[in-house]
Amino acid sequence: MNAKKIIVDCDPGIDDALALMLLLRSPEVEILGITVVCGNAPTAIGAENALKILSWMDRLDIPVYAGEERPLVRDYVDAMDTHGQDGLGESFYPPVTAVRPRENAVDFLIETLQNAKTNGEKITILTLGPLTNLARVIERCPECLGGLDECFSMGGCYQSHGNCSPVAEYNYWCDPHAAKNVFHAFATLPCLSGKQIHMVGLDVTRRIVLTPNLTEYLCRLSPRTGEKIRTITRFYNDFHWTQEGVVGCVINDPLAAAYLIDRSLCSGFFAHTTVETEGVCLGQSVVDAFGFWKAPANSYVLTKTSPLRFMEMFFQRITGAPAETLTPMLRQLMGPDAEEMEGSL
Ligand code: RIB
Ligand code: CA
Repeated sequence: MNAKKIIVDCDPGIDDALALMLLLRSPEVEILGITVVCGNAPTAIGAENALKILSWMDRLDIPVYAGEERPLVRDYVDAMDTHGQDGLGESFYPPVTAVRPRENAVDFLIETLQNAKTNGEKITILTLGPLTNLARVIERCPECLGGLDECFSMGGCYQSHGNCSPVAEYNYWCDPHAAKNVFHAFATLPCLSGKQIHMVGLDVTRRIVLTPNLTEYLCRLSPRTGEKIRTITRFYNDFHWTQEGVVGCVINDPLAAAYLIDRSLCSGFFAHTTVETEGVCLGQSVVDAFGFWKAPANSYVLTKTSPLRFMEMFFQRITGAPAETLTPMLRQLMGPDAEEMEGSL
């Protein structure tokens, strides 16, 4: 099987870290590079965190590129109240010194896409943070997107409520102009004709909750990796209890990574989507589910997922334990509805 060549554009970030850990244990993908954008934490901190995660997984061979340090138009608003002052749950792991982050993430994205286009190859992009880097690529070199295979984006929400306002999800709220421009490009650029952004929004990610029991199970199966996950999610758990009354933490980004690997994990529908850039609904992803605007479908909006099937993949990849061992315990720990393909309101 030929591994899918991907670039992960992210803002590590606790759940970004879990997504990277999953991808680094998945033979279906080859990570060509990690590009970092301002989001959960300032770009420089995010880039250091990306290196920390690569060092945990013994993959410092993968290059990390620092990208945009502020949104296209809005002032930058971080999410350190959720991810901690170090961006990894105030775990304060020591920085990696053997390798340093590179600069110019947007150049790397453009060159990689352009080379793929020239060589008749295709690159998949997974975005786990605000879309500022990708918007800059489109702004500077729209034709290089001829080298794009698919784009998966953790962001937005359709019928589920927001996590930054009643209607807005953080990644698209942090840089709504970038999100609007990227979705517009998928509706208008000839080289993207017939392609859609797989929008992995809160409608499905809210169902993916890493509870203390699941974390304990992870640690029992794989102490080295499990303890890192327990350490970086402790702060996240506190935020989720205070903010959403959740025991555990919603891990958004790993679902986007898992869905890139196995499309059967989620289902949704094609629609035209745009993002509001001003006013009380700033950052809202507006999904034209009923075709009022008669505009091209630029997105595949995910609405249903099976938390049990996600956790089976996540645990199997992270711990190496076989599915036949994992499933009975996961069913017990996750409850009766976990297998259902449903959405979250
Ligand atoms: O709204 C959740 C998203 O915003 C996740 O990607 C999280 O890491 C933050 O970037
Ligand atoms: Ca993220």
